[in-house]
Amino acid sequence: MDPIDFTAKTVLVVGGSSGIGNAAAQAFRAHGAGVHVWGTRASADAYAAEAGSDLQGLRYAQMDFSKDGALDHWHPPFESLDVLVLSQGMVLYKREEFQMPGFRKVVELNLMSVMQCCMRFRDMLAATKGSLIIVSSAAAFHATKGNPAYNASKAGAMGLTRTLGQAWAADGIRVNGIAPGFVATKLTAVTTENSARLRAAEERIPLGRVGTAEEMAGIALFLASPLASYIVGQTILADGGMLL
Ligand SMILES: NC(=O)c1ccc[n+]([C@@H]2O[C@H](COP(=O)([O-])OP(=O)(O)OC[C@H]3O[C@@H](n4cnc5c(N)ncnc54)[C@H](OP(=O)(O)O)[C@@H]3O)[C@@H](O)[C@H]2O)c1
Repeated sequence: MDPIDFTAKTVLVVGGSSGIGNAAAQAFRAHGAGVHVWGTRASADAYAAEAGSDLQGLRYAQMDFSKDGALDHWHPPFESLDVLVLSQGMVLYKREEFQMPGFRKVVELNLMSVMQCCMRFRDMLAATKGSLIIVSSAAAFHATKGNPAYNASKAGAMGLTRTLGQAWAADGIRVNGIAPGFVATKLTAVTTENSARLRAAEERIPLGRVGTAEEMAGIALFLASPLASYIVGQTILADGGMLL
């Protein structure tokens, strides 16, 4: 039996319209799953010209957590759910996160919406003995200059991974996480599209390069698979050695 065969499984990737979430969605699809993805834009067509957004073969729906009650008004187009990947996230620059409106905005998305999704899908995941994967960040492990909200929200998401892992293991839900180091996506374009900044970032990484969204997707496949059946509440750091 192929342990990463997700045939007949249903996967939802929140933040699956782009970057790491999109790569995870496509990886689950390539391994047989029916995959739903959420993003902020009105339709899948709105991502057609976007690098890092391949929505082919995925079932797209709009879900913008900055709109009040967005999730409360949503009705699932699937009856059961086997894997939930929470990859929504944002960061603000120019010291905006040192102002309370900016701080709140980032924490609302990176932490509050994560908990909201966990609660919304808990019963569905319990029914299938499913897997929940929270994408936090290497930022959960160290200070991040200029980004207090990103840092606090990601440390919070990692804590949530542990605590829900403990709370829901007895229900058959395995909660685990991924902490990416530096991955080229639209979130990090401000660095990767500037050659001097990119070089400086690569110099801090023992592997000498930034990671790919596909490398993060591989961890999601592993965590959701029977290969990880005894792993609970853990966040796997994947940073090319950056924090060593
Ligand atoms: N890239 C890295 O180096 C890195 C490192 C550590 C952790 N991470 C984490 O990895 C996760 C994925 O990030 P990424 O790098 O793949 O960036 P990305 O390409 O910008 O993806 C972010 C995703 O979050 C969605 N999103 C943004 N605002 C939202 C909102 N208000 N409501 C609902 N969804 C929203 C985006 O939707 P749209 O496509 O519609 O904008 C997109 O699907 C994030 O949690 C991020 O913090 C990334």
